[in-house]
Amino acid sequence: MAQKLQSVRGMNDLLPSQIARWHRVEAVLRAVGWAYGYQEIRTPMVEQAELFTQSIGDQTDIVQKEMYIFADRERQQLALRPEATASVVRACNQHGLLHNAQQRLWYLGPMFRRERPQQGRYRQFHQFGVEAFGWAEPDMDAEVLRLSARIWRRLQVRDVHLQINTLGSPQNQQAYRQALQDYFGKHRQQLDADSVRRLDTNPLRILDSKVADTMALVADAPDLRLFLDDEIRRRFERLCELLHQAELPFTVNPRLVRGLDYYTGTVFEWVTEQLGAQNAVCAGGRYDRLVENRGGHACPAVGFALGLERMVELLRAQEESDDNAANVTNSAPADIYVLSVTENKSVTTEATASVATVSEMLRDADADYKIIAHYGGGKLNKQMKRAAASGARFAVITNADAHAANPVQVKKLHAADAQQPMHTINLNALAAWLKDNFSFSK
Ligand code: HAM
Repeated sequence: MAQKLQSVRGMNDLLPSQIARWHRVEAVLRAVGWAYGYQEIRTPMVEQAELFTQSIGDQTDIVQKEMYIFADRERQQLALRPEATASVVRACNQHGLLHNAQQRLWYLGPMFRRERPQQGRYRQFHQFGVEAFGWAEPDMDAEVLRLSARIWRRLQVRDVHLQINTLGSPQNQQAYRQALQDYFGKHRQQLDADSVRRLDTNPLRILDSKVADTMALVADAPDLRLFLDDEIRRRFERLCELLHQAELPFTVNPRLVRGLDYYTGTVFEWVTEQLGAQNAVCAGGRYDRLVENRGGHACPAVGFALGLERMVELLRAQEESDDNAANVTNSAPADIYVLSVTENKSVTTEATASVATVSEMLRDADADYKIIAHYGGGKLNKQMKRAAASGARFAVITNADAHAANPVQVKKLHAADAQQPMHTINLNALAAWLKDNFSFSK
């Protein structure tokens, strides 16, 4: 037997049995995006690699270790997108979307990072993101946070907590980097290997270390708040006020830094204790310089991205602990199962051909009916078993000639209707009869 190939590590199939929860999450994400006046944007999954190197930062883990980069046939360096903020900024600049205009945009799609796979961390994963361009004041930071809070409410997610921080202006960050380099430089011997590497390139990321000795040093590291200028401070205090007014609880975490270099000012993460080490469900912040740095006019911007795998897993765990699984069963693939009274399995007879004809006729009658056509005939009781297993509300049994005036039989399949007899009905009256007798899942 030929060898069975497996999917690429960290890149998962989503099987029909898992899809209902995804649909539910995606529907809420889209609806909430629209509810705040955000418009959808779709950008390619492949971009020039330098877009990400320049936007996310060439010393970040994403760029240094995690990007899928390849040369195309013209030897141009391309990358699978590890995130979409850089792509959205590129698209806005390329198509002039920000010329004298503000934009509220959302996107949903797969991203790719070659990280070490573990629960909640994959090499292909999906993000829903929003990006608001053209608002400098913290009203917009508060809006994107309210938008994310509404997502949790609509999905009835508990146990997510908001942490916020401000990283200051580029000048503040520069001064803070220097202070961190001075401080950690004095304790170089106690630092783990990763942190030593980051000391010269990206000292802010040392604050994120999960290594015990380094964490002990981090506790006494200089505080970013001492390096903030008055304007940044004012905006951050205003944001805190707005969140209080919105009754949106949050924690200020002065050690919250992000893995992407484009942030200035506000940063935030929604974290949960339900997902182990990968505890950020949604994260983002301000990136007021990125549009200009990528060749556009100066344009303040703020946004976030939410990880769908983590969101779906959180919901699954929550619903399981609530014993609420009924909530999420996949809807049956069929409302109507059409079969024929023919035992001959080896040839297409008039009877089996009429299965397709009747199915098409019903789809014409109502585009929302979900109809499964049974091909290949077979013993009637076997066909009826298949019909019942499909979850359909009822079976339509055709015979040799799908002629309008000819009768077909209809049998209700659900357990509650088990005692009801077959109905015999003329084909030209079938659609109207179905409409009168059943309401269907859409
Ligand atoms: P990020 O923090 O890199 O930010 O990713 C955002 C979210 O995507 C994370 O909080 C997590 O839920 C999910 N995520 C990230 N990596 C993985 C992975 N390997 N497997 C599963 N889920 C993952 C960004 O991507 C920024 N573009 C967010 C943003 C938008 N900032 C401003 N606008």
